[in-house]
Amino acid sequence: MRQICVTGAGHVGLVTATCFADLGNQVTCVDIDEAKVEGLKEGYLPLYEPGLEEMTRRNQQAGRLTFTAHHEEGVPQADFIFVAVDTPPGIEGEADMTSFRLAAQKIAQCLNKHAIIINRSTVPIGTGDWVTNLIQRHNEKTQFSVVSNPEFSREGQAVADFMQPDRIVLGSTDTAAAEKVASLYSSFKCPIIITDLRTAEMIKYASNAFLATRLSFINEIASICDQLGADVKQVARGMGLDKRIGTGYLEAGLGYGGSCIPKDVEALTYVAAAHGCHPQLLRTVMEINQDQRRLVVQRLREFFGSLEGLTIGILGLSFKPDTDDMRGAASLEVVHRLEVEGAKVKAYDPAAIPIAQRLLPKVQLCPDAYSTAEGSDALVIVTEWNEFKQLDMERIKNLLRHPILVDGRNIYEPEEMLALGFAYCGIGRGHLKETNQH
Ligand SMILES: NC(=O)c1ccc[n+]([C@@H]2O[C@H](COP(=O)([O-])OP(=O)(O)OC[C@H]3O[C@@H](n4cnc5c(N)ncnc54)[C@H](O)[C@@H]3O)[C@@H](O)[C@H]2O)c1
Repeated sequence: MRQICVTGAGHVGLVTATCFADLGNQVTCVDIDEAKVEGLKEGYLPLYEPGLEEMTRRNQQAGRLTFTAHHEEGVPQADFIFVAVDTPPGIEGEADMTSFRLAAQKIAQCLNKHAIIINRSTVPIGTGDWVTNLIQRHNEKTQFSVVSNPEFSREGQAVADFMQPDRIVLGSTDTAAAEKVASLYSSFKCPIIITDLRTAEMIKYASNAFLATRLSFINEIASICDQLGADVKQVARGMGLDKRIGTGYLEAGLGYGGSCIPKDVEALTYVAAAHGCHPQLLRTVMEINQDQRRLVVQRLREFFGSLEGLTIGILGLSFKPDTDDMRGAASLEVVHRLEVEGAKVKAYDPAAIPIAQRLLPKVQLCPDAYSTAEGSDALVIVTEWNEFKQLDMERIKNLLRHPILVDGRNIYEPEEMLALGFAYCGIGRGHLKETNQH
């Protein structure tokens, strides 16, 4: 049985630790957050991922998965040590490596036999070399290898993504070490790419930057569609059916969010500029994303003139459906801009209300979509939750003070909404379409 230590019990670390235990390995997961570790020992997960709670409990009961707040209890016996700690954005958009540096130092202090240290966090290109030097400085006696193994899973599907990945990427100067790490994934059918450290680190950043680029691309096309009277939803479908293009990440809307894509595009831009490159495409991708957030206020201003004293209803606060995560969510900027314009905001989200209470203290949080619409001057869809796709729109229209719908995720059809008497405005589906009822 292989001995694995995972440092970090967050979204990535906990899924990595649990899934490796489920594959039959002996796993110790170390996190410096003692409260989190105590909770995990008692079966309380600090986050929601479909299937994870049951899998964690099953492997704890089988004795293959343990949690500790002390690196000394996980690192020394491990053959494989994964680093899955947070690398949040710093003040200039760079990756803040504080947690990573502390984790690497702790590992160095506890290392007493050869082990493979595997980086799973998203880190700047060159980190593999940097961490090798750092560990050597803190522990001159023990031999070790460093492998980069970036994580590509999506929140909300992380267990399935771990168990059925599209590809495994491994980077190292030590090919034998990379092959040993590859053996941990030998039951998977996907391609395994073994390359050098910097290339592996770049594959992660380039993948997220490309997804962001597709979204900003289609949002730029959406702006042009708005001016020229084309429908971006059909344009995206017509494009996506071309096998060279594909359908994913071509939804025009209020832009990308979350805890990964925005920070990774920023960090790649920062590291590129710091090395004398001119990352103009990446800068434009970020600029377009910012512009998308402004569309809601722009559209409402075109309709009402001033927003002072109006009440605007928002449907959806999480950064994407099926999660309560509001990190990098479009809703935060939309609400901020509406409040700056003097509007009052009412909002509903199927999962994020407890988090929104803390992040959006001035917003009136409602128990459902209908109470959000009631008495609002206009309704804005910010997150495309399934439960917003089949609302009783006749009822919604009657509850609103004005039948104005800004559909920031294009979940309704303009013609149907116009037929119901709404003034409808999607993204890239023709400019604010008015009814003569207003
Ligand atoms: N969240 C995702 O879906 C996702 C996907 C791909 C890649 N990533 C990347 O993976 C990394 C981790 O992301 P996350 O979402 O799991 O972060 P997270 O904030 O959810 O979890 C990080 C955990 O690391 C712990 N930690 C910090 N310092 C530590 C140390 N010295 N020793 C042990 N534990 C320590 C923290 O207490 C926390 O529990 C980041 O680099 C992120 O960019 C995340």
